[in-house]
Amino acid sequence: MSTHFFTASSLDGFIATQEHSLDWLLKQDVDAEGPMAYQQFEKTIGALAMGAATYEWVLDHEQGRWGYTQPSWVFTHRELTIPDGADVTLTRDAIPEVHAAMTAAADGKDLWVVGGGDLAGQFADAGLLDEIWVQFAPVTLGGGAPLLPRTLDLELLDVARNRNFMCGRYRVVRD
Ligand SMILES: NC(=O)c1ccc[n+]([C@@H]2O[C@H](COP(=O)([O-])OP(=O)(O)OC[C@H]3O[C@@H](n4cnc5c(N)ncnc54)[C@H](OP(=O)(O)O)[C@@H]3O)[C@@H](O)[C@H]2O)c1
Repeated sequence: MSTHFFTASSLDGFIATQEHSLDWLLKQDVDAEGPMAYQQFEKTIGALAMGAATYEWVLDHEQGRWGYTQPSWVFTHRELTIPDGADVTLTRDAIPEVHAAMTAAADGKDLWVVGGGDLAGQFADAGLLDEIWVQFAPVTLGGGAPLLPRTLDLELLDVARNRNFMCGRYRVVRD
């Protein structure tokens, strides 16, 4: 079992604009079933976690529907609305506690930190982030939500091209 931060990024290291737009990403050509793409990755995932801004973006983008079947944890200090039938737990608990709950719920599958970058950093701070998968889009944004605002040593495990995207898979090196 492994904990992965899987995300797309601009070439200059931002995962959304300052206004939380992903228009720059959604217009890109990608083979959803191709190398290092979402569809294969998602099948390996037993539980996921995200921050409040990512959760709000997903709900806005999907007209309030919740597309994930896996048990999900949303980090927030607010009482956000949860769509009917969605297996979503709002939490402000410590990362290790939430990670343990995710592990118990994941039925032996891997865990996905969806984003944002600081939340992935909080998992890394706790020594609980194993891999980082990034699909780099051919665009620079000049600012926005950072990919991963931490100092980490990484080992490059794999690379691939998927149409417009340069994809890398990295292991987080721990001392
Ligand atoms: N390019 C991609 O593939 C990709 C992937 C994922 C996300 N995104 C986008 O990237 C942007 C990320 O936004 P963001 O950087 O603001 O990050 P975020 O992690 O989505 O949201 C940050 C918020 O999460 C809550 N939070 C974070 N850590 C917490 C903790 N330990 N305990 C309690 N609450 C915590 C806080 O919300 P409260 O104020 O509610 O407490 C905080 O303001 C979004 O626009 C998202 O849609 C892009």
